[in-house]
Amino acid sequence: MPERIVTDVLTKPDVALEMTLRPSLFSDFTGQARVKERLEIAVQAAQQRKECLDHILLSGPPGLGKTTIANIIAKAMGGSLKATSGPTIEKAGDLAGLLTNLEAGDVLFIDEIHRLQKTIEEYLYPAMEDFKLDIIIDQGPNARSVRLSLPRFTLIGATTRSGLLTAPLLTRFGIRERLDYYQTEQLEKIVTRSAHLLNIEIEPAGAHEIARRSRGTPRISNNLLRRVRDYAQVRGDGRITAPIADLALAMLEIDQHGLDEMDKRILETIILKFSGGPVGVNSLAVAVGEEPDTIEEVYEPYLIMEGYLNRTSQGRIATELSYQRLGLKPLGGAQAKLL
Ligand SMILES: Nc1ncnc2c1ncn2[C@@H]1O[C@H](COP(=O)(O)OP(=O)(O)OP(=O)(O)O)[C@@H](O)[C@H]1O
Ligand SMILES: [Mg+2]
Repeated sequence: MPERIVTDVLTKPDVALEMTLRPSLFSDFTGQARVKERLEIAVQAAQQRKECLDHILLSGPPGLGKTTIANIIAKAMGGSLKATSGPTIEKAGDLAGLLTNLEAGDVLFIDEIHRLQKTIEEYLYPAMEDFKLDIIIDQGPNARSVRLSLPRFTLIGATTRSGLLTAPLLTRFGIRERLDYYQTEQLEKIVTRSAHLLNIEIEPAGAHEIARRSRGTPRISNNLLRRVRDYAQVRGDGRITAPIADLALAMLEIDQHGLDEMDKRILETIILKFSGGPVGVNSLAVAVGEEPDTIEEVYEPYLIMEGYLNRTSQGRIATELSYQRLGLKPLGGAQAKLL
């Protein structure tokens, strides 16, 4: 996933911690109640019938728990999870290798499935539908197609951009679920659970402060928790209280409303450089020095959900709320001036 300054650059110990913090059972997974219920029922029903679980597509912004859910499902089904990602499957042979190594009941997890090549995708259709793989061996006049039988497996695809999936691929997933941003109370529970696992002393008000400034995202909550812990250890007595969390988050340039530096830069740029919009994502990306994809996948969905941005066919427009938050005044859309 795209890197973010404070939140997504994971060092080695961070990766290890992420493993510890990742819930491995449905019962430890907070939030996404509807999605969780539907998936739990599908898993139980498949188990009762001793069948393989239908293919599942999980979509939603980064850090909301797609990989986590895939792992929970594989564990609940008693199979193992083999993980790969769209861009790493370069040749049909790579996919054949993965598929033929599966055992019955395994989960094949393809992250960023929207980045799968079209040619590879076509091999996947019969594999998903009939558990068959047609591979072409040899070239030229000797080329021939060989049909391999595959074990019954479950494909779990994850994507931050389900809109980019082709219709034939989309329709081959029997279960399609979209994860949404979390409520503050749910993130509070997640922060408290993580603090407990990491032996961090935290007051409920401290957990609340971190939760409400985490852009609705558990991964960000966990990362902020670790940064706030560092701050509490060095500048305080190690205990995370609301004032300590507030000071630490301010130091990390996460504002009172949970907007980070890049969020603010995006809103400021639309207002000051593009007269409040509409502006296309490419021009915006150049102006803020970020990839267009990252803007669309990571930043925009949250800003739109919180009502800071509108997306129109002409481009992105800053809303009244953006002006308010940045302390700017809309002046006939033309030049925004500092209040
Ligand atoms: N519901 C949850 N309860 C507790 N922790 C969670 C939950 N969802 C996610 N997490 C935590 O957030 C981290 C990020 O989740 P995960 O890696 O599953 O996100 P993702 O949707 O796969 O993101 P990406 O699109 O970047 O791959 C996990 O390591 C886990 O610790
Ligand atoms: Mg993931």
